[in-house]
Amino acid sequence: MKVTVVGAGAVGASCAEYIAMKNFAEEVVLLDIKEGYAEGKAMDLMQTSSLNGFDTMITGSTNDYSKTAGSDVAVITSGIPRKPGMTREELIGINAGIVKTVSENLIAQSPNVIIIVVSNPMDTMTYLVHKSTNLPKNRIIGMGGALDSARFKYRLAEALECPTSDVNGMVIGGHSDKGMVPLIEKAVRNSVPVSEFLSQEKMDYVVQETKVGGATLTGLLGTSAWYAPGAAVSELVKAIALDSKKMFPCSALLEGEYGLNDLSIGVPCILGKNGIEKIVEVSLSDAEKAKLAESAEGVKKTNGLLEVNA
Ligand code: LAC
Repeated sequence: MKVTVVGAGAVGASCAEYIAMKNFAEEVVLLDIKEGYAEGKAMDLMQTSSLNGFDTMITGSTNDYSKTAGSDVAVITSGIPRKPGMTREELIGINAGIVKTVSENLIAQSPNVIIIVVSNPMDTMTYLVHKSTNLPKNRIIGMGGALDSARFKYRLAEALECPTSDVNGMVIGGHSDKGMVPLIEKAVRNSVPVSEFLSQEKMDYVVQETKVGGATLTGLLGTSAWYAPGAAVSELVKAIALDSKKMFPCSALLEGEYGLNDLSIGVPCILGKNGIEKIVEVSLSDAEKAKLAESAEGVKKTNGLLEVNA
């Protein structure tokens, strides 16, 4: 498998690193507009290959899309990240133009590519790729839910005082502080609902900390996070590479699923060699349904800004 990662900043480099470390791809091309930057990151990463034991070939390129030709998967991380106090939505003006151009350049070189969108505001950027390219909808995937779910599991394990391997849970809805819908009612510790172990107050805390997970890190780091975003991307790419049919919440174009239309938002998706193999409609409680509908309204509002900015 050949994977392109556009943007060699912290998130892009972390994607390349985790993809290489998992050793399922033959080739990763890292691309950036800053002269020599992607080449430098690629060389540094390649010098870890004997230490970390991977055979994936990582190369860098300064904006030469011909190097990306024949990619099976491309990850778009380009654009500006948020600074402390900023919402993801505030990035739309600059990032919309970048994401549109990048996706067109990628498709020109790799007509069969599956695109994974990471740039923020992620659900709206995913929708923009749908609207501005004619790729089939299974080949455009927004990465947010896999990251938010990892943060949810981290907070669940913290509250339960147990390892993350003992918990499971999923976050659907928009990838925004207000829009995330952590499915706490469905979260489990080794198949037992977490409500058996945690007070309502503790569960509310887990939900709240999950929703502001990215903002908490932006406050601590001065820019947005990269390790967990990179790791989440690597898991999505791996599921496609191995045709594993694993289920992840991803931002997918909805056409009636969950009663929603004409937007990309986080819902459970089966991933395999064709990208999104299936959108899974799980049964939601009335409270979960209401939260998802409210989240969708927020995403649509941000999508509405595309007309003036794109
Ligand atoms: C975050 C960015 C990637 O949540 O949206 O860290």
